[in-house]
Amino acid sequence: MLYLGIETSCDETACAIVEDGRRIVSSRLVSQINLHQQFGGVVPEVAARRHLEAINQLVEEVIGEAGLDLTTNPKSLSGIACTNGPGLIGTLLVGLSCAKALAWSYDVPLLSVDHILAHVCANYIDSDLEPPFVALVVSGGHTQIMHFRSYKEAEILGQTIDDASGEAYDKVARLLGLGYPGGPAIDRTAQSGNAAAFKLPEGVVPGYDFSFSGLKTAVMRLVENQRREHGDLLPLGDIAASFQDAVNRVLFRKTMDAAAKLGLDRIVLAGGVAANSDLRRRFESVSGVKIYRPALSLCTDNAAMVAAAAYYSGQPVDLSASAYSRRY
Ligand code: KG4
Ligand code: ZN
Repeated sequence: MLYLGIETSCDETACAIVEDGRRIVSSRLVSQINLHQQFGGVVPEVAARRHLEAINQLVEEVIGEAGLDLTTNPKSLSGIACTNGPGLIGTLLVGLSCAKALAWSYDVPLLSVDHILAHVCANYIDSDLEPPFVALVVSGGHTQIMHFRSYKEAEILGQTIDDASGEAYDKVARLLGLGYPGGPAIDRTAQSGNAAAFKLPEGVVPGYDFSFSGLKTAVMRLVENQRREHGDLLPLGDIAASFQDAVNRVLFRKTMDAAAKLGLDRIVLAGGVAANSDLRRRFESVSGVKIYRPALSLCTDNAAMVAAAAYYSGQPVDLSASAYSRRY
């Protein structure tokens, strides 16, 4: 079964066709990073307009590359799926409108896909992953530990009570003058630093919940103190490595605890922060548990994960379907 997926929840315009939720047939992505860099973050209106300029061509390209002719054989696609939330409402509506137009004009089923579940489904691509498993979803907007009992049943075991982990990476990177997006910049800068250089606090939150806002404030104080001592010659590598260590050790520990408590030996990493080299290394070094993480290009937003999610847990919707920015 072939599904076409569309992703426009934030600053990547993407379209892909995936077979049986596991194999990418064709995929295109246009990143808006360069566009938003000058503002230090994503400007929703600007993002929505750029999605609108890019999406139609991407759709044409993936259909062409897959060798499909929807005019003569619309049934070659089992469905057209689109992220309908959570995300930026204006950008989501661009993708959803495009998906509706395609579904209506070719008379193909329309499906909506949850962005968080889609990030997890990136792990089905080119892999043998099957539920049950524990998933750590770490992105710019979310930080959650989830228990996937089956392809369709997922329970949130814990989540951040304030900033998302990716948001913390982005804010600290801005503080250090490392630019946007902050996660990859911190990851790179930390390579030359000493993670034990500064003792930074983990947010103390019970259970599987997280808090990163206190850590962000602690880094702010540290930077102020360092500036007083060293002027503008900040030990960027050491600060980045110490911050990264504080975020990743709590993500790692709580995820491992959840898997142990549930007696599950499969752990899945998902979302943009799952591209972090230190986080990946921590999980890769454990034995007795099988770790799944997407290829780097499938950690951050993409449409292959949307098409994979359509196959496993897409919700059939009609043309009145709407987008939402937050779940609650
Ligand atoms: O999943 P994603 O593309 O978009 C959302 O759904 O939010 O995640 C983007 C987030 C950003 O906060 C970005 O800084 C972070 O993922 N990120 C990273 C890395 N690559 C991307 N964080 C840490 N290390 C990385 N290598
Ligand atoms: Zn995302």
